[in-house]
Amino acid sequence: MNIRRATLEDLESVHQIETLSFNDGSYPPFVLRQLFDISHEYFLVAEEEGKVLGYVLGNINKNTSQGWLLSLGVHPEARGKKIGKLLTEKLVELLENDLSTEICLTVHPDNASAKKIYEDLGFKSVKTFDNYYNDLEARLLMKKQLITLRFNA
Ligand SMILES: CC(C)(COP(=O)(O)OP(=O)(O)OC[C@H]1O[C@@H](n2cnc3c(N)ncnc32)[C@H](O)[C@@H]1OP(=O)(O)O)[C@@H](O)C(=O)NCCC(=O)NCCS
Repeated sequence: MNIRRATLEDLESVHQIETLSFNDGSYPPFVLRQLFDISHEYFLVAEEEGKVLGYVLGNINKNTSQGWLLSLGVHPEARGKKIGKLLTEKLVELLENDLSTEICLTVHPDNASAKKIYEDLGFKSVKTFDNYYNDLEARLLMKKQLITLRFNA
């Protein structure tokens, strides 16, 4: 299993996983392409034997220093093998290295496997929103505080 930065050639596989994971709520190809252009360093895929099995996408709000996990998906046939956890861990590491003070994400409150990953990695539930995306679906906001000790040499 190799975790690496996504390339343009991966976007078709990422879109397939998105569609299998989120159905009507998945990012269309043009949004994935635009996210690739602006979030490239925080767009990772998990690859095995040349096949993309999962992806994670994040970014940093430079004004607030908040890192965000925007999307995470693993191919249904590859779930339960810690790929989701590995991808999330790697993104958290990148966001932390790039000076995020906290990392935020939202997840459906009933998404037990995703919540398990986030809680295991130190994310805490902050607030539930009834209509976060204006689609009448609840979303739970979770945050991981990062303790950063930086010294001016
Ligand atoms: C959520 C998702 C990314 C998880 O990927 P994955 O590679 O299967 O996850 P992992 O194998 O790393 O870990 C899943 C964890 O959840 C646990 N889990 C699975 N089903 C569970 C359930 N019903 N209740 C509680 N925990 C559960 C597993 O035991 C595992 O925990 P462990 O590490 O302690 O064994 C994947 O299911 C997916 O793509 N889902 C659809 C898209 C999605 O929901 N993305 C997240 C949006 S915020």
